[in-house]
Amino acid sequence: MKVLVNNHLVEREDATVDIEDRGYQFGDGVYEVVRLYNGKFFTYNEHIDRLYASAAKIDLVIPYSKEELRELLEKLVAENNINTGNVYLQVTRGVQNPRNHVMPDDFPLEGVLTAAAREVPRNEQQFVEGGPVITEEDVRWLRCDIKSLNLLGNILAKNKAHQQNALEAVLHRGEQVTECSASNVSIIKDGVLWTHAADNLILNGITRQVIIAVAKKNGIPVKEADFTLTDLREADEVFISSTTIEITPVTHIDGVQVADGKRGPITAKLHQYFVEEIVAACGEVELAK
Ligand code: PDD
Repeated sequence: MKVLVNNHLVEREDATVDIEDRGYQFGDGVYEVVRLYNGKFFTYNEHIDRLYASAAKIDLVIPYSKEELRELLEKLVAENNINTGNVYLQVTRGVQNPRNHVMPDDFPLEGVLTAAAREVPRNEQQFVEGGPVITEEDVRWLRCDIKSLNLLGNILAKNKAHQQNALEAVLHRGEQVTECSASNVSIIKDGVLWTHAADNLILNGITRQVIIAVAKKNGIPVKEADFTLTDLREADEVFISSTTIEITPVTHIDGVQVADGKRGPITAKLHQYFVEEIVAACGEVELAK
């Protein structure tokens, strides 16, 4: 397996980062994950635009133009022969020796890019059957719109979910539901798709944005506003969404069944529309039945 370290493809075993890299020392960096179907990137520009936007929000200069980055990522994908899979890429602020919270006066440092691509098939069964989630207080910072490498709040919540055999932790600030540890959450109530507004409290998921667009195109009303834990528990349908899990239905919340515990009709329709977007961009894929 070859990975990208700056603008070089190297064997995974030979890839190294400096211990004084600010990404390693402080989580000082940003990342993205882009999905491929049939060897083609899906919603590539949206992800890369978000990467540059996240970087700009923390004054991090990505050392490559968007064109250069695309060339590098395409080489990475080709070299590893990825058909349906994920590319994870990180850009840190770079190496600062000695370690110091304060960035050097000769800022900016040279950013460091790393990326890996892996084959990961679509999980048809999960898309149809869904799974349980837990709820967890959202203790993260107030800039969740930045896709930062600092993921402590996310991974602690995700691991709590995992320990309880749940797919995800739905995060909430008091009564208000925000998003999940690594995905967005939406509910359907009386035929309306309801999901948190794209503000500083959530990552504005690219999958979320595609879902909102196809919902509007197909006459499903959309409300972008926060909802409460009670709304979540009393919803007709609940689903979570991300680049890697597409649209995954939620069957139980903290052990209590959602409606009849099966994927709801609007969730199924939205997934069908979502797959149509993938097919239009990347060619035929198995339909989520
Ligand atoms: N996570 N919210 C959070 C906190 C996320 O980490 C993600 C994605 C999303 C959904 O964003 P998108 O639809 O653009 O994937 C929402 C990715 C999959 C990850 O970190 O692995």
